[in-house]
Amino acid sequence: MVHTNAFAVTVAALLAALPVHVQAGLYSKNSPVLQLDGKSYDRLIAQSNYTSIVEFYAPWCGHCKNLQPAYEKAARTLEGLAKVAAVDCDDDSNKPFCGQFGVQGFPTLKIIKPGKKPGKPVIEDYNGQRTAKDIVDAVIDKIPNHVRRVEDKTLETFLAESNDSAKAILFTDKGKTSALMRAVAIDFKDSLTVAQIRDKEKASVELFGITKFPTLLVLPGGKEAEGIIYEGELKKAPIVDFLSKSTNIAPNPDPAPGKPKNAKAKDEKKASKKKEEFESASEKHAKEDGKNAGATATEEELEEDATASPDPIVETEKPIRLPDPAPPIPLLATEEEVVKECLGPRTGTCILALLSNTPDIVAGTAVSSLSEIAHRSRLHGRRLFPFYALPQPNPAYENIKSKLGLKDIDVIAINGRRGWWKAVPRESDSLAAEDVNEEKLENWVDSIRLGEGGKQKLPEGLIPEEPAEEEVEEPAAEEEANTDEQVEVEVNADDDEAVKEEDKSHDEL
Ligand SMILES: *[C@@H]1O[C@H](CO)[C@@H](O)[C@H](O)[C@H]1NC(C)=O
Ligand SMILES: *[C@@H]1O[C@H](CO)[C@@H](O)[C@H](O)[C@H]1NC(C)=O
Repeated sequence: MVHTNAFAVTVAALLAALPVHVQAGLYSKNSPVLQLDGKSYDRLIAQSNYTSIVEFYAPWCGHCKNLQPAYEKAARTLEGLAKVAAVDCDDDSNKPFCGQFGVQGFPTLKIIKPGKKPGKPVIEDYNGQRTAKDIVDAVIDKIPNHVRRVEDKTLETFLAESNDSAKAILFTDKGKTSALMRAVAIDFKDSLTVAQIRDKEKASVELFGITKFPTLLVLPGGKEAEGIIYEGELKKAPIVDFLSKSTNIAPNPDPAPGKPKNAKAKDEKKASKKKEEFESASEKHAKEDGKNAGATATEEELEEDATASPDPIVETEKPIRLPDPAPPIPLLATEEEVVKECLGPRTGTCILALLSNTPDIVAGTAVSSLSEIAHRSRLHGRRLFPFYALPQPNPAYENIKSKLGLKDIDVIAINGRRGWWKAVPRESDSLAAEDVNEEKLENWVDSIRLGEGGKQKLPEGLIPEEPAEEEVEEPAAEEEANTDEQVEVEVNADDDEAVKEEDKSHDEL
């Protein structure tokens, strides 16, 4: 609860303070990217025979924004071949869902491939380059292959087995099974056998009188004598259409239509409660589907089917309970905030991550490490001084950077009251991601808590003059502890506040 309120406040404050355009979601209604939530995931992704890639994002995250054009391009390329979806993890209702997936930073990309059992997909992280091409290649690589490979010596057996069920055979000069054929086979999984035969298989080629490659042939009753050659475009939608019409077999509806009646009755109460919610979601889907229309008649039809007979029950089913992911550390948006929280004449120890406008893996690592450490210490009720992100648009960023001689990205501890600061240790001249991984940072934070290691004196002019009040000098040994306690209160009050915003400016790993 506190989080949510603090989030809202922060976002508003940041909007006012920073030149960032925050919007509801990253993907517009016209985007080829399927917009997903915890409710639709099971039906659209987990139950699908298709492979999907899902982006977990937050609208304020810069790396997410950077990814958007490439991701939409990948979605267009993959239309009809795989699903490209995105979840707005900033939306409160999606937070448990994102937490369930262990999402800790944005964007997180996961490839979700159908598993052996329906509804139990295999999920893996996508850690490749965030370009359309790399994403497309990685996803295509994971498209299930139900296309049979038939050779001269297996042809007879192939034709004889399930000899009266429809078959589609692609004659090709390629060794690999194309994504297109794999997608066609997924559409007709378990209803029409899809096979491919190489041009090298002379007997088969001759038997069917094939003269060019590729040639797609359909045997509606499974018999070799009844082959019909497909003359249309080698695109998924017309192929599926042709196969469906010539064999009288409809492609599998994806998502699957509603559950059986009795299952419905059981959940009726729940369902009606959720219905309204669902309907608006399904409307959304319908719109999305409409926008997908151009690329594949198939997908489009299937999606339409699904939205025509939505099943609210499916929607109510997903389990929602998981720990919240670590909220990002708060962000100091204005100079006043910096003075108040971290750089005042009376502020105790605090950790500042200076974040330049340029997206950077070091910054991302530092922020996520600090967020994790802060989150854990909160969970364990442990006292810790506060961590903040200081983004470049805040004038204090340049001031601190130049006065302390820092690079664009740095992590420092600072104590205004005692007038010292220290930078996180690094292996080489400038900070590397390894210098700010969770372990290193945690050790460093611990050493500060224990008062270990050297400190540097803060230069003149960085800390504003103390207003004419008497300052109590505290003995050094106790200072640290007192300081931490004092500051702790602020941690709770402000921590989440900047969370979002913060990532916005740099969380672009
Ligand atoms: C088709 O298969 C069945 C058994 O699965 C067999 O009895 C029948 O003779 C086969 N027909 C042809 C034409 O091969
Ligand atoms: C997945 O494939 C099965 C056949 O194995 C089919 O019955 C089902 O309808 C398909 N599901 C979807 C969502 O396409």
